[in-house]
Amino acid sequence: MKLQSGISLKPYNTFGIDVKARFFARFDSMAKLQQLLQMPEVKHLPMLILGGGSNLLFTGDFDGVVLQNNIKGIEVLREEEVYTYVKAGGGEVWHEFVQFALAQNLGGVENLSLIPGTVGAAPLQNIGAYGVELKDVFYELEAVHLPSGEIHTFDNAACSFGYRESIFKNDLKGQYIVTSVTFRLHRQHQLNTSYGAIKTTLDEMQVQEPTIQDVSAAVCHIRQSKLPDPKQIGNAGSFFKNPEIPVMQYENLKAQFPDIPSYPVTPTTVKVPAGWLIEQCGWKGKVIGNYGVHKNQALVLVNYGGASGDKIRQLALDIIQSVKDKFGIQLHPEVNIL
Ligand code: EPU
Repeated sequence: MKLQSGISLKPYNTFGIDVKARFFARFDSMAKLQQLLQMPEVKHLPMLILGGGSNLLFTGDFDGVVLQNNIKGIEVLREEEVYTYVKAGGGEVWHEFVQFALAQNLGGVENLSLIPGTVGAAPLQNIGAYGVELKDVFYELEAVHLPSGEIHTFDNAACSFGYRESIFKNDLKGQYIVTSVTFRLHRQHQLNTSYGAIKTTLDEMQVQEPTIQDVSAAVCHIRQSKLPDPKQIGNAGSFFKNPEIPVMQYENLKAQFPDIPSYPVTPTTVKVPAGWLIEQCGWKGKVIGNYGVHKNQALVLVNYGGASGDKIRQLALDIIQSVKDKFGIQLHPEVNIL
């Protein structure tokens, strides 16, 4: 195993930020990862584990070791009456795993079609879209504990999943590398088409009795029409989380801004779409030289080519400030800023 030095990370982050890593290596098996973890550079320098690099903003060179998880393989572990258990390598591309499930006619991940990134990165932020989250189909994961090199298994409860959250972003941050994830997929499908845009899209597609494949096609259609393709325009999906606020605060804002949308979360809190708040502050579609705010979805910051991560971080800070000034709501980035 050899470490490459001084390589550009531009191909490894969907924002397309051109920064360098002091050292870089790729591993395609648990054994190779364990070998890497024994190397002095890897032991002593800061480490960054990359999946698809789709939830990252680099603001400078990475003065440490970047390891890219390339562990592949998808296998059906067992079939039961209601569920089929499928294990996927952490380096599998997420959408390829979704396509595997669809081809096997296994339900549960169709709403998560076309989310950028890898299987191994998916649990870290409990990826979610169109009314479904990873935690709804997650069974367990295997991860290498960096300090000891041991392999540990985490079940659903042990991951402490929340909205774009898990234990791996909090108490155990930086301590594990997820090498595989096992999913519990449905043999009998339970479609979740309650998210408004899915129903409308299925109607437009003239589908009366949708299958999981139809729902996936609808989700792909919605995503492709709203979200920029990172292969064409650098971006990391939603840059901010949708903020959760007390109902009282929401009622006060509604008196001032009657159109403010909301989704109930608990009896005393609601979620407000950050995209709406940002749009109301006039940011949607704003172009500042070679970066800006996407024209179809104000929650997505974009790099039109050659922008620095610092500039994009400053734009994020300006957006946070203006939303705070206008609505008194604090936005928090969803993307990891490094
Ligand atoms: N909206 C606006 N203007 C905008 C964008 C959104 O007014 O520019 C309002 C509209 O009222 C719209 C509502 O926000 O009805 C919801 O918008 P959308 O359906 O696009 O969803 P979102 O809340 O903005 C979240 C996720 C997305 C996920 C979609 C669909 C977060 C941070 N983002 O966005 O996830 O695809 O729902 O489920 O929760 C991601 O995490 O990278 C991501 C793309």
